[in-house]
Amino acid sequence: MRDARARHRPDTAGALAGLETRRLAAETLAEVLAGKPFVPLDRARLADPRDRAFANRLVTTALRRHGHIETVTAALLERGLPKRAGLFGPLLAIGLAELLYIEGAAPHAAIDSSVTILKADRRGGHLAKLLNAALREAQRRADAFSRLPAETLIPATFRDNWRRQYGEAMLSRFAEALVLGAPLDLSFASEDPDLVAELGGRATLPLSARIESRDRPVAELPGYAEGRWWVQDVAASLPARLIDLPPGARVLDLCAAPGGKTAQLCARGYKVTALDNDKARLARLSDNLARLGFSAEIIVADAAAPLELSPFDAVLVDAPCSATGTFRRHPEVLVNRTAADVADRVALQRRIVANAVPLVGPGGSLVFATCSLERAEGEDQADWIAGSFPDLVPAPIRRGELNAPDQALTPGGRLRTHPGLDWPEIGAGGMDGFYVARFFRGL
Ligand SMILES: C[S@@+](CC[C@H](N)C(=O)[O-])C[C@H]1O[C@@H](n2cnc3c(N)ncnc32)[C@H](O)[C@@H]1O
Repeated sequence: MRDARARHRPDTAGALAGLETRRLAAETLAEVLAGKPFVPLDRARLADPRDRAFANRLVTTALRRHGHIETVTAALLERGLPKRAGLFGPLLAIGLAELLYIEGAAPHAAIDSSVTILKADRRGGHLAKLLNAALREAQRRADAFSRLPAETLIPATFRDNWRRQYGEAMLSRFAEALVLGAPLDLSFASEDPDLVAELGGRATLPLSARIESRDRPVAELPGYAEGRWWVQDVAASLPARLIDLPPGARVLDLCAAPGGKTAQLCARGYKVTALDNDKARLARLSDNLARLGFSAEIIVADAAAPLELSPFDAVLVDAPCSATGTFRRHPEVLVNRTAADVADRVALQRRIVANAVPLVGPGGSLVFATCSLERAEGEDQADWIAGSFPDLVPAPIRRGELNAPDQALTPGGRLRTHPGLDWPEIGAGGMDGFYVARFFRGL
């Protein structure tokens, strides 16, 4: 296993990348390791597209390989990572990412630049010799270091749970998917085979297509500016497909931003209310809907507190969760999430569901979804809903309803997807991990 999937990757070579590129990569990695989500470096921070692509690749590779980089670091540094050492840790991590995992790396440039950057670092400068020695040692032992067990890429916080739930073989497939990254999945408001062909993609499920590789940023692909599609992992498109009502039906999208599912609901002709407690994310939702030519009622509110809204024909709760199911696209979720985070999200999801239930009108449906691979946020949570609200009855997902393969449908008619799932319609490249359950409210 080497390197992430070749997504928008102009011809970059490590040797060409300057000090600024690696410094920005190290700083970005430091921010992500401190708990921030990874936001790829943009034009404003690094103007040259090749440098930018290379810097972003260094960061994502260091994140995808975090489990192995920790093992290698422990083998290289007898006393472990020095504390309060400025960019030492991030520079070591991106240096290792480049030396061990990036095809066509330039070892001398990787080592020399990292050491030069650290020398200029106020807090870590005195450790430049140690960094130099560690990276040179890594270069000598590259062969052994690139053969570490794949499953140790999955952090201990999740490894045992996932081994128990998905099995040993699947754990290895998850590790592979983590290294490979995700293809680009798109959702369409209406079928557009010509555009799918122009994009070099292939249709997966109805109104969805997959693009394996591209030579441009998303916003420059055909049809983006005209609002003919939006980016949405195929698994993320499943929950909204379970709401099947006549056009004009009132639907509440309770945790809506940035709006992928809102867009699907609008495309079905529903009158959609999109609610979220994050103003900035709702602004993105609003921009996304405007580009797509959709409109929805947008409400900024805390769904964990009672909501004064009249009942809807359907309520979609795409609840905030650990997002561990999205690790192919957001490898930082595996680095930053703790067991306590999962427990916090479970409690929040319950408060949100408790507020959502009274908003489901008689005969209406509630769809609960999380993009988590954790049983506590999926299987257990749906069981809790089934046992907690006497007005709700399970509305099993029917075989054939989503073209879902048998192993994605649970015996109780819920849906469990994950990055290792064989789904013939989707083909290679996997999908995010989601758990989805549907309920009806009695008349
Ligand atoms: C999984 S994301 C939703 C993704 C969205 N449904 C889509 O398809 O694009 C969960 C959302 O829940 C929102 N959220 C978190 N806590 C919330 C709360 N207490 N009330 C309302 N929204 C909340 C977050 O801001 C985030 O946008």
